[in-house]
Amino acid sequence: MGGSVGVPGDKSISHRAVILGALANGTTTVSGFLEGRDCLATRDAFRAMGVTIEDPGPGRLEVHGVGLHGLRPPGGPLDLGNSGTSMRLLVGLLAAQRFDSVLTGDASLSRRPMRRVIEPLRRMGARIEAGPHGTAPLRITGGMRLRGIDYAMPVASAQVKSALLLAGLYAQSETRVREPGVSRDHTERMLEAFGGDLVREADGVRLYPGRTLSGRHVAVPGDLSSAAFLLVAAAIAPGSDLTVRRVGINPTRTGVLDVLRQMGADIEIAPGPGAGSEPVADIRVRHRPLRGVYIPPELVPRAIDEFPALFVAAACADGETRLAGARELRVKESDRIRVMADGLAALGIDAHPLADGIRIRGGRLRGGLVDSGGDHRIAMAFAVAALRADGPVEVRDCANVGTSFPGFVPLLASCGLDIRTREAAGVPGGGA
Ligand code: S3P
Repeated sequence: MGGSVGVPGDKSISHRAVILGALANGTTTVSGFLEGRDCLATRDAFRAMGVTIEDPGPGRLEVHGVGLHGLRPPGGPLDLGNSGTSMRLLVGLLAAQRFDSVLTGDASLSRRPMRRVIEPLRRMGARIEAGPHGTAPLRITGGMRLRGIDYAMPVASAQVKSALLLAGLYAQSETRVREPGVSRDHTERMLEAFGGDLVREADGVRLYPGRTLSGRHVAVPGDLSSAAFLLVAAAIAPGSDLTVRRVGINPTRTGVLDVLRQMGADIEIAPGPGAGSEPVADIRVRHRPLRGVYIPPELVPRAIDEFPALFVAAACADGETRLAGARELRVKESDRIRVMADGLAALGIDAHPLADGIRIRGGRLRGGLVDSGGDHRIAMAFAVAALRADGPVEVRDCANVGTSFPGFVPLLASCGLDIRTREAAGVPGGGA
């Protein structure tokens, strides 16, 4: 693998740029916006609520903010597709609006746990109905007056924290969110940049309601979670020397770099001019043999989306890798512990799922057929695994790669991976 490439914009920051842009007074211009299906679902939800959002060019948006109280009732349910971030952030925001709303999603999103946001929002005074298992569709009753709460999250989750902060913008008193570990802080950074009134604390954040937000420019950096597939590809493929340009390196997200370095990867980080409130760097990786490591629970939130890629690195490392404290992986777009363990086993790797993690013994990867479980990051991880397999790897059910990483296949091909897509039953990109 070689070359110097950019990756699409950060998914988390793109969602937030649309949301805060819509709630601000004035226009927010966005560059580097991720045109993946998840962020487009957020964009379309705000359009359905009366926000004018123009797309003047690739990766660019112009969001004409309607102010905190300017959203209008959508004409019907808001379909958020596969996007857990859209649903969790929007339920917080919509709980505070004057109108009723309904949030729906695809089969995977309709299985994902929503009680983690519903329960604290109810404590704030919200009225939200979910299915019997606490899942979508979510029915939100408008017109409720919310009060601020002091909430200690049981699990570090930026989605839950952000939902409460968005609801907190409308509450009658301050909202405090405390977290047991560090989760990504893009909402806090962007709220500060838009003029929100918040105080960062050692274990969380406090938000004071009442400030109007002001539209501004948001330059979205490349998504480190997408770059992770390229970084792992270069780390495992002999002879590689690859640079990924202008990637966000917010310290709440860089666990993947820490783990790869601990594994012995040769990584150089060249910080560049920041993208607004977010730090950015070019990241260069050269191949070097990796060794297995223990990944402790404290590191998990800072690498939460990168474990499929890291498990592939572990499969190519010398010795054993063990991950603990990562039960959250079981409730992502798929059960990432089970689906990754099954796929690695199908490629001849000794991978043993644990209740809250996995044990992987590095070894020889053989070619074979793996199922992604409809999970974008698992599909991409196994595509990268092919670099070290002694035969072709066929990955089933890849249509969701477009939720977070449009252009994955041509980009990886341009760096040297022999990768092709096959149409499966009318689904573009159905095999890779
Ligand atoms: C995200 C937070 C993470 C992450 C998800 C995006 C966000 O989820 O897995 O892909 O944008 O806030 P949790 O905060 O629930 O762990």
